[in-house]
Amino acid sequence: MRRIVVLTGAGISQESGLQTFRGADGLWNNEHIEHICTPEGFRRDPLRVDRFYNDLRARLPAVHPNAAHLALAALEQAARNGQWPGHLTIITQNIDDLHERAGSQNVIHMHGELLRLRCTHCGMTPTWRTDCYPDTPCPGCHTPALRPDIVWFGEMPYHMDTIAQRLAECDLFVAIGTSGVVYPAAGFVDSVADHADTMLFNLEVPSGPSAFEQIIPGPATRTVPAWTRDLLDR
Ligand code: APR
Repeated sequence: MRRIVVLTGAGISQESGLQTFRGADGLWNNEHIEHICTPEGFRRDPLRVDRFYNDLRARLPAVHPNAAHLALAALEQAARNGQWPGHLTIITQNIDDLHERAGSQNVIHMHGELLRLRCTHCGMTPTWRTDCYPDTPCPGCHTPALRPDIVWFGEMPYHMDTIAQRLAECDLFVAIGTSGVVYPAAGFVDSVADHADTMLFNLEVPSGPSAFEQIIPGPATRTVPAWTRDLLDR
């Protein structure tokens, strides 16, 4: 049985119309990471951070899963139906809900989710589809202590124990649409090198030596469906 772990990054959602972080029109070209994506930045100016994530959250209803998201969901569905003798786990760095809306169920959001907040007073993590502001009361404890449930730089990514277990068990590790510059995700390929094959699907081929055995360049909506079709046709 093939046990596949797929790590996705912003590149898989780019053709759905969501910006990546470091590309030509990357989000970090117009915002400073330290102001937006750190606990210190949130403490310093919570309204600026809330507005950044409110804007991203407001974009979600207008974008839709693309052929790459749908291909991964179809592969997982085939495994559930017994039509493909494998197991698929998606570990995503993305905070959008496009994998879920494509139909994927076995999704681990290691950097949190845009459609969820976290109360820093009572710990409640309500689903949230509208705007949030520093004075928005928590639906649980009514304290104005809500923050985006996003993992910021300097914070521990979520579900790392489960992730370590899935990486240890896999025999194929696939990365799709990630620049491989942010750890710990960027180090996953090294942690599986002794027991799994590795593939990178990315628009741009990384300059210099890559830890991936196989690199498939091109847009994910073309390369990923071709790969999953090949797996299912075998
Ligand atoms: N198909 C395939 N790959 C693509 C496409 C596409 N259509 N468009 C862009 N890419 C590739 C780019 O070449 C780039 O290598 O996707 C990658 C996106 O890289 P980043 O913008 O750095 O996004 P990501 O790797 O997900 O960033 C990791 O950094 O800022 C933090 O928390 C944030 O989760 C994010 C993390």
